[in-house]
Amino acid sequence: MMAARRGLLLFASLVALSATQCLRADAFEGRKVTNLHFFFHDIVAGQDPSAVLVATPKKNLSGDVQQTFGWVVVIDDPLTEGPERDSNVLGAAQGFYMLTGRKTPMLTLGADYGFTAGPYNGSSFSVFSRNPAGETERELAVVGGRGAFRMAQGFANLRTVSISNGGDAVVEYNVTLFHY
Ligand SMILES: *[C@@H]1O[C@H](CO)[C@@H](O)[C@H](O)[C@H]1NC(C)=O
Ligand SMILES: *[C@@H]1O[C@H](CO)[C@@H](O)[C@H](O)[C@H]1NC(C)=O
Ligand SMILES: *[C@@H]1O[C@H](CO)[C@@H](O)[C@H](O)[C@H]1NC(C)=O
Repeated sequence: MMAARRGLLLFASLVALSATQCLRADAFEGRKVTNLHFFFHDIVAGQDPSAVLVATPKKNLSGDVQQTFGWVVVIDDPLTEGPERDSNVLGAAQGFYMLTGRKTPMLTLGADYGFTAGPYNGSSFSVFSRNPAGETERELAVVGGRGAFRMAQGFANLRTVSISNGGDAVVEYNVTLFHY
């Protein structure tokens, strides 16, 4: 009797376990995978910047703290097919980045990468991620999407292509999205 009950309990927990495993396996089943490649232009210099500083700390920072800690920058940065500034525009990354490293340079980026041309016109994916921009190669977390990218999750691999004397940056993106 006891043995039978123990057997039943064991069976029940095995069923529960396999149900969770199925859920996990199914989590990516039925999802599409899309890879995107484009270049991101963060233009801070000149008369027509796509990134503007909107806030700095209300008091001067003392000690060995990064002097840009606390800055907030709003962006409407063009996304292009090639690395040149005048390359075909595919869309824009609209949002903000904050300088969030007290001791080491760090950006925290929150932006909607929206497409206005090509097969994904009208769709976008969302990034909310740390972005250690001082490192040439880095990875961002993709946390959502709209349109063709509804419910997207994924990641973006970045490589800085160039940074001008004025601070304008060109960054290559390879994005992998899992979505419905
Ligand atoms: C910060 O330091 C600069 C230069 O020393 C000074 O001119 C400015 O008034 C200070 N700002 C604040 C908010 O204390
Ligand atoms: C993108 O979609 C918008 C809205 O549907 C449309 O007006 C526009 O012409 C499209 N652009 C391209 C390049 O297909
Ligand atoms: C993106 O993918 C291409 C093709 O695989 C590769 O040549 C390039 O180095 C990659 N760039 C990044 C930033 O991952």
